[in-house]
Amino acid sequence: MLTSKLPMLLAALATGLSTFVFAQSAPTPPDAELRAAMEWAFPLNPPPAAHAPMPDMHKPLHVPGSARTYTLADYDHMFGAPDWFPQDHPPMPRIVARGRKPAWACAFCHLPTGQGRPENAPLAGLPAAYIIEQVKAFRSGKRVSGGPEMARFMPAEATHVTDADLKQAAGYFSSLHYKPWTQVIETATVPKTHMVHFILVADTGNAREPIGNRIIETSTDIARTELRDTRFGFVAYVPPGSIARGAVIASKGAGEALPCESCHGSDLRGVGNIPPLASRSPTYIIRELILFRLGGRANTAAAPMQQEASHLSLRDMIAAAAYAASRKP
Ligand code: HEC
Ligand code: HEC
Repeated sequence: MLTSKLPMLLAALATGLSTFVFAQSAPTPPDAELRAAMEWAFPLNPPPAAHAPMPDMHKPLHVPGSARTYTLADYDHMFGAPDWFPQDHPPMPRIVARGRKPAWACAFCHLPTGQGRPENAPLAGLPAAYIIEQVKAFRSGKRVSGGPEMARFMPAEATHVTDADLKQAAGYFSSLHYKPWTQVIETATVPKTHMVHFILVADTGNAREPIGNRIIETSTDIARTELRDTRFGFVAYVPPGSIARGAVIASKGAGEALPCESCHGSDLRGVGNIPPLASRSPTYIIRELILFRLGGRANTAAAPMQQEASHLSLRDMIAAAAYAASRKP
């Protein structure tokens, strides 16, 4: 029943969020609160202002604490990634560092440390078999991601990467320790934000607005974030009371929803092939819960999560994500 919504979801992702409408014939009515949440949980790349200057592809770039220099021309083609702190991770396999045409470098999006960014996914510390399974699900079309522009990346990558390279990449990322880098802050008001290049960025000026039923995950220094500085993370604003409520959902469940810990482990650090959630991007967690609920993750192993997500309100999803993100990995 849920998987029957997948073609609609794919079509909606392809045509853009503003036209995101579930087919009128869907058995369950469209879920307005989830649709609204897609505005902040699904990354967008609005066109730059007409007068915005073209980036200088050959300007030397630096981040604090690294002696290395890169230019956009070194990696913006997606067959490379700045590796500011090579001492922070083991040597990368070729597919991760440079890709193998036409497969892009995994590190371009997921970073050399596998930390990922809110608009993609953290891979460090995921079970290798889970990584392989998910890439194969993208390849077969059983899994989609947030879009519309971002949604095209993993299906293309999954089609282009060889199974041998995928195995190497999975082994590499699963060997890495995920480093907490998202500070979770409960607050009633947040800076007004807009999306630039897939990330929420504070508007100029100090305008604030009520947080409402949202998570606003942003950077306090977007320049360092854009440089892919792996020693500089994110801040996620969540509604007051979310973390305490999330703790209850994680340990006791909510209504028909089972306790997250019953499958993801008592500390949400993952069990066997069930992935860890602790300290990971709460925006990513919400996006996945929405996708499970709407049938965008429809591989066989996703069945328990489709059930689980169908029992959670958006408020409960936000609470569970806030709690998970605030835990130690
Ligand atoms: C151009 C950007 C980009 C590149 C390159 C890329 N990915 Fe991804 N990856 C994404 C996005 C976007 C998502 C989906 C996030 C979502 O579901 O919203 C994702 C998700 C994933 C996931 C799912 C993680 C989870 O927790 O379920 C895996 C596994 C993954 N990628 C592996 C890889 C591997 C391996 C490579 C290199 C062979 C790679 N990716 C290259 C953008 C990229
Ligand atoms: C009955 C077992 C079960 C319960 C209960 C459960 N999960 Fe899961 N969860 C899974 C499985 C299995 C997967 C992996 C799905 C796959 O392989 O596609 C998963 C995956 C996820 C993912 C995707 C992670 C990633 O890296 O992409 C998120 C997010 C998630 N669960 C959140 C939750 C939250 C929040 C709760 C509690 C509200 C919860 N889960 C409760 C079994 C469960």
